[in-house]
Amino acid sequence: APAQIGVTGLAVMGRNLARNFARHGYTVAVHNRSFAKTESLVADHGDDGTFVASESMADFVASIEQPRKVVIMVKAGGPTDAVIDELIPLLDEGDIIIDAGNAHFPDTRRREERLRGLGLHFVGTGVSGGEEGALNGPSIMPGGSEESYVTLGPILEDISAKVDGVPCCTYVGPDGAGHFVKMVHNGIEYADMQLIAEAYDLLKQGLGATAAEIGQIFAEWNTGDLESFLIEITADLLQHVDAETGSAFVDIILDQAEQKGTGRWTVQNGLDLGVPITGIAEATFARALSGSTPQRTAARGVLRAEAGTWAVEDRDAFIEDVRLALYSSKVVAYSQGFDQIAAASEEFGWNIDRGAMARIWRGGCIIRARFLNRITEAYERDENLSLLLADPHFTESVGNGVSAWRRVVSSAALNGVPTPAFSSSLAYYDGVRAERLPAALIQAQRDFFGAHTYQRVDKPGVFHTEWSLDRTETAQ
Ligand code: 6PG
Repeated sequence: APAQIGVTGLAVMGRNLARNFARHGYTVAVHNRSFAKTESLVADHGDDGTFVASESMADFVASIEQPRKVVIMVKAGGPTDAVIDELIPLLDEGDIIIDAGNAHFPDTRRREERLRGLGLHFVGTGVSGGEEGALNGPSIMPGGSEESYVTLGPILEDISAKVDGVPCCTYVGPDGAGHFVKMVHNGIEYADMQLIAEAYDLLKQGLGATAAEIGQIFAEWNTGDLESFLIEITADLLQHVDAETGSAFVDIILDQAEQKGTGRWTVQNGLDLGVPITGIAEATFARALSGSTPQRTAARGVLRAEAGTWAVEDRDAFIEDVRLALYSSKVVAYSQGFDQIAAASEEFGWNIDRGAMARIWRGGCIIRARFLNRITEAYERDENLSLLLADPHFTESVGNGVSAWRRVVSSAALNGVPTPAFSSSLAYYDGVRAERLPAALIQAQRDFFGAHTYQRVDKPGVFHTEWSLDRTETAQ
C-alpha cells in the first residue's frame, strides 16, 4: 500500500517522528542520505507499524500517495535547501513539503514563496519537545497555506501531545508563521531557563543550600503555579549525584552555556520589530557572558565586589520571595514574547491567534506549563489584549508578588549576586506601568544635538527648538 506520509532525514528527531506516525497507524515512507540509517530504523522499530524503506529519493517519493506529504528533518540551512532541490523535480502539483527542523523564519518565507510558484505547498513547522516529544507527542506549530492544513493538519494533530484531549497542534498562519512562533517559543525557553538558573543561584548564595536541598525546593514549587516541565527537570537534575566524584552533578559541569542560535534569532527579530523582549535578551546575553572566558578571567578577583556576606534570616520567607519573583519575572518574559508574536503577525499579515499558541504550548513542548492555561484564558477574555501583564488574572497574581520581587532583586544587588533576568524583568514592569518615562529627556537631547524634533504633551504637532540660536520653537 502507498505510504500516507514520508520522512526524509532519519537522525534522532526524524526517526522518532517517523515512529510516532507509524504508531498512529500511518504507513510511513522513510528515507535517509545513508541507507544504513533507514534500514536500522526498520530493523529496530518495525514493531511500531508499517514503514516503506527506500534507498533513493525517487523511490521514496514514488512510494507516497498523492497529494504527497513529505517531512524533511535535516539540519537547518543549506542541507534543507539541498533536500528541497532534490525533491522538486520528483513532486507533483499540490504536494506538500513539510520542514520540521528549526529553520529561521525568513528562510521559510523564501522557500514557501519559491515552492508556491511551482504549485507546491511548503509548510514550515515548529516541532518542540526534543527526542522524547517527537516520539511520544510533540507540540507542533505548522505554517504555510491554510489549504495544506486541510489534509496535513489532522495527521499532525493525531501525533501531537494532547492536554485534556485537545491536540497541541493548530494552524499558526501563512508562510513563515509556524517557524516564527517556534523561534519565540525557544526565546521564551531561554528566558525560562535563565530565570530558573537565577532562582537556583539566589537560593544557593542566600541560604548556602546544597544542590539537593534546592532540588527539593523546586520539587515543592512544581506542585503550585510554577508547575512546568522545566521546573520538574530542574528538581530532578539538582538532586542528581555525579557517579564518578560523588558530587552534586550540577557542581561538576563547566559553567558556560551554549546555544544553537534560536534565542539569538529571537533577540535579533525583537530589535528589528522594536519589541522590548528584555527577558529573552538578558537570557541570551547571560549565556554569552558565561562563555566570555577572557573577560571572566580578567575580572575574577580583580573587580571589587563591595558586597555583604549574604545571611538570610528567615529561610522560609526568602524561599517564598524567590518563588514569587520567579513567577512574576516569568510572566514578564511570556508577556514580551506574546507582544513579539503580535508585532510580527501585524508586520507579515499572519493573523496569529495568541490564545491558540498558548493552548498548543500546554503540552509536548519544552516550555509546557500549567500557567499557559491562564494565558489562553486571558486571550479568550480579550483577543486584542495589548499587554498580557494587564490581564486581570496577571495584574492580581503578579501584583501579589511585587514586593517580594523588589526584596529579591535588591538583596541580590546588595550581595553581589547577578540576576540579569530577574532585575530586567522588574525594570520592564516598572517601566511599562510608569506614568511618565525619562524618554522625554532623550527626545530633548535628540532635538538639541540633531534637530530630530519632538512632540508636546499639551498640543498636537511636531516641533523643533533652535537650540544654538535664540531658542525659539517652530512647528515642523
Ligand atoms: C524544543 C527545543 C529544541 C532544542 C533547542 C535547544 O523546543 O524542543 O527548543 O528546539 O533543544 O533548539 O536550543 P539551544 O541549543 O539554542 O539551547
